[in-house]
Amino acid sequence: MSETPSNGETPIVRPRRSPAAIRAAADDFRTADAQLRAAGGDADPKAAKRNELLVSALFALGGLFGVGFLVAYFAIKLGPKHGDVLDQALKSNLALGLTLTGALLCLGAGVVLWVKLLMPHPQVTEDRHDFFSTEEDRLAAAADFNRGAEEAGVGRRPLLVGSLLAGTVPLLVAPIALLRDAGPMPGKTLRHTAWFKGSKLIDLTTGEPVKLGMLAVGSLVTVMPEGATVEEDATSPTILIRLRPEEYKPVKGKENWAPEGHVAYNKICTHAGCPIGLYEQQTHQLFCPCHQSTFNVLEHCKVVFGPAARPLPQLEIYLDDEGYFRAAGDFNQPVGPSFWERG
Ligand code: FES
Repeated sequence: MSETPSNGETPIVRPRRSPAAIRAAADDFRTADAQLRAAGGDADPKAAKRNELLVSALFALGGLFGVGFLVAYFAIKLGPKHGDVLDQALKSNLALGLTLTGALLCLGAGVVLWVKLLMPHPQVTEDRHDFFSTEEDRLAAAADFNRGAEEAGVGRRPLLVGSLLAGTVPLLVAPIALLRDAGPMPGKTLRHTAWFKGSKLIDLTTGEPVKLGMLAVGSLVTVMPEGATVEEDATSPTILIRLRPEEYKPVKGKENWAPEGHVAYNKICTHAGCPIGLYEQQTHQLFCPCHQSTFNVLEHCKVVFGPAARPLPQLEIYLDDEGYFRAAGDFNQPVGPSFWERG
């Protein structure tokens, strides 16, 4: 094959290697390799054994650090129940960081020493050749690969391979253990709030139970079930709005849900869970400030604009003998954004 340099000099003639030349080069390689092996660690079985033990010890130490990582992860408890949160977090980070560093360092050092002390390091040079592979090249490559595997001692050094695998297992298991940080399964908690049958509607601002006559027509108040807090029951805040009684158009099954024109809807937006913040008295619309979902109170909080896909859940309420508003039960559907199990 010839190439013509762009500067017009005499073309370079680069002969293709014949199969015989390739075989000869491979033979040369094997000869050099055997000499190197004879001069290397394997020529001294005691040194080879010593090096093998050293590398295995590093792998085993890496494995112990990996186990230490898992133990530290589970043993150091986080959260307010277990003392000072900051202190626990510092301890946890320190223990996890040190054990993980130790595991990676030992495994890495073991692999480096395996290569440096136990594998031969022949210098191989080869002429540049055409960019295609002949059958001989492919066979030679396959032979090289097999020889490489043999040199690495994967088959001959079960102690090394076993200790490497054992040392790596804890680190492979660690990501599975870390799934614990995703928290407990929600179970049925997404389907229920703190509202229960008979719970009084408590004004979130004053902490007082809401009585008939406290709200002017067209006004609203945020209420919570008695005994609940926003911090612990973030899905329970509910908006109580007073309409004119004739403005409430009951649908089948909800005829008694608006005593004296008072309606109660969950405050958590059904799009992404922001608290609904604005009520426009003239149009009877509730607005979510996050992405502008708009709910029409006169149509049972149906979505009239924005990305929310569901109406705000309505809470059935009634007036007790003393004129206080009470819930007839929990919401009749899950509150807040859609989730995977929601029917
Ligand atoms: S969270 Fe309310 S519109 Fe997005």
